[in-house]
Amino acid sequence: QPAKAWSGRFSEPVSDLVKRYTASVTFDQRMAAQDIRGSLAHAKMLARQGIIGASDFADIERGMAQIAGEIERGEFVWSLDDEDVHLNIEKRLTALVGDAGKRLHTGRSRNDQVATDIRLWLRDAIDQTLELIGDFQRNLLDIAEQHADTPMPGFTHLQVAQPVTFGHHLMAYYEMSRRDAERFADCRKRVNRLPLGSAALAGTSYPIDREFVAAELGFDEVCYNSLDAVSDRDFAIEFCAAAALLMTHLSRLSEELILWMSPRVGFIDLADRFCTGSSIMPQKKNPDVPELVRGKTGRTNGNLIALLTLMKGQPLAYNKDNQEDKEPLYDTADTVIDTLRIYADMITGIKVKADNMRGALSQGFATATDLADYLVKQGLPFRDAHEAVALAVRAAEQRGCDLPQFTLDELRAAMAEVPGAAERAGPEIFAVLTIEGSLASRNHVGGTAPDQVRAAILRARKQLG
Ligand code: ARG
Repeated sequence: QPAKAWSGRFSEPVSDLVKRYTASVTFDQRMAAQDIRGSLAHAKMLARQGIIGASDFADIERGMAQIAGEIERGEFVWSLDDEDVHLNIEKRLTALVGDAGKRLHTGRSRNDQVATDIRLWLRDAIDQTLELIGDFQRNLLDIAEQHADTPMPGFTHLQVAQPVTFGHHLMAYYEMSRRDAERFADCRKRVNRLPLGSAALAGTSYPIDREFVAAELGFDEVCYNSLDAVSDRDFAIEFCAAAALLMTHLSRLSEELILWMSPRVGFIDLADRFCTGSSIMPQKKNPDVPELVRGKTGRTNGNLIALLTLMKGQPLAYNKDNQEDKEPLYDTADTVIDTLRIYADMITGIKVKADNMRGALSQGFATATDLADYLVKQGLPFRDAHEAVALAVRAAEQRGCDLPQFTLDELRAAMAEVPGAAERAGPEIFAVLTIEGSLASRNHVGGTAPDQVRAAILRARKQLG
């Protein structure tokens, strides 16, 4: 038997450098379980169709069981000489069971084999990702519920804008994660189609049964064009895109956690187990984990661009370029899975400093919009109300106080330049200026009123089942 699966044609061996450069076994061996599973389904079909003998299939099954055990126990010897996971396993199979091993590759190519393995592998990664998103969401809902009533400043331009509740703020991230879950579930539909049976690119002359193999491997359907089937990596790009977006969401949340944890802001504290100290500054407690999540988003964005760039110039059908799809894909899956695992735990360890949130709210004229809305409800046109309150804010700023600290007369005087404003301001104005009043008034679907936040959490729990 030749040393290499394709060596008969060649007059000289490749150099060690070329061997290392072209091999993928160092990284694609992590698809060994999927490769064995795919081979068994293929062999079973070959036997059912009478393409190989029943005893061949029995030998292949026995050999693969042995190989799976060897890999699991760490005894399997991976060899660069055999290039990739597929050839390593096939070679070992032949060593173990002889001719049956040599019959396994009938009607198949590594091109449809590798495409099948990646899809099997990615399907598992997606299922794991979806489960972890669920864990993250459930923990997020728990904290949001605890803080459905906790006021904090809502920001635009990082300037205090209007009061929101911390629960409402967290629920914004629930919505993002819900879309993320939808995207992964949708991507899974296109991952779950079977390329096997396309052989190298044109199909095969053996009487194969692709539907049988699809059913054996849990695929929803087969890929319907052999050229496309061996060369399509859309599904990997889609996964990386969904992952990059999920990481972008967690990166934004991380940025907020980092900001909130800064002593200058002081809205939250993170549990010590997610932070590290400084080797020089004894007082430091740094939010390393959220910072790394933010940093690793660069990695997942890069992987997406790497795959798009990998595919853009490839003529049909399979090209060796495609071997470069695996490391970015694995890396993105690893990053997303680890990040979700850590995040689900980290958010349960958030200690909220409600007093500081409230303190920040009383410094930024957060209820100025409420005052303007009050004047509008008394009949003043909105633009006039806006201007009147702007004058009041300016006066308060000059005095170094907040709006509720004015007496009614002082407030009226401050707004006097706008005709009709002062006389529309009554004593009930001070109830309007409270944080609780402001929050409770935004009582519609999607608003920050605590009752709405609780309704949103209930809705989310129903969605999660
Ligand atoms: N290791 C290859 C890959 O990852 C398997 C397919 C190779 N096929 C070939 N004809 N060279 O894509």
